[in-house]
Amino acid sequence: MSSEIPEARLLAQIHPERLPKHVAIIMDGNGRWARKRRLPRIAGHRAGMNAVRRVIEACAELRIPYLTLYAFSVENWKRPRREVELLMQLLKEYLKKGVADLDRHNIRLGVIGRIAELPASVRQGLRAAVTKTQSNTGLRLTLALNYGGRAELVDAFRSLMTEHASAAGAAPSLDEEAIRRHLYTSDLPDPDLLIRTSGEMRLSNFLLWQVAYAEIWVTETLWPDFGKKDLLEALLDYQKRERRYGGLG
Ligand code: IPE
Ligand code: IPE
Ligand code: MG
Repeated sequence: MSSEIPEARLLAQIHPERLPKHVAIIMDGNGRWARKRRLPRIAGHRAGMNAVRRVIEACAELRIPYLTLYAFSVENWKRPRREVELLMQLLKEYLKKGVADLDRHNIRLGVIGRIAELPASVRQGLRAAVTKTQSNTGLRLTLALNYGGRAELVDAFRSLMTEHASAAGAAPSLDEEAIRRHLYTSDLPDPDLLIRTSGEMRLSNFLLWQVAYAEIWVTETLWPDFGKKDLLEALLDYQKRERRYGGLG
């Protein structure tokens, strides 16, 4: 229904004071987008990069403080080697060509995931882009790469154990705050809005701890077709929700 409403009308309905602080997106459906066009899957990933640029720009314009994009999961290594190689190639291209755009929009880039396991050339591109944008004060963009929610929890518990082993004497205290501090996302607020494209109703191991009270919005739109209008629809739906956090509202 709302897909027939022009973008400007959607934008006019947005309450800036009720925007989510942190939007997280499971970008899904690149392969299906390509298959519908009888193109190789990588053509879908390439088209998906344009959607990435559109959404980053839209979030920056709307002054949403945090955007986190699920780009490659720890499970995605199961895909054919050629697809994984091409995905890494696309990522490198994006980092090389896109960093100037990020910088121009005052966007600060961060990454979460098991980054040490990525190819050296990708790590180098990431390091350069993160360093170049580190003093920017606008949108905080986080790319989840070789990311898994369970892997993150394992890494957090390992890091907690190391900390306790090196602390003298006192019995280790363990509470939610202690765990939160050891997550990859320790310097990010929890997502308020979680978007998944292409109609799949699952988390696929994304931010398991952090989405405890996120509002979830799923669209049938395939990721390469996702644009500012889809984002505005998600934000408008989010603004209508009552977040009770287990209370009575
Ligand atoms: C999302 O699109 C991109 C990644 C997971 C890297 P997919 O490649 O999962 O596309 P579908 O789900 O096969 O359509
Ligand atoms: C989730 O999508 C991972 C990313 C978007 C990077 P997948 O396409 O890998 O998830 P499943 O396999 O459908 O659960
Ligand atoms: Mg998929």
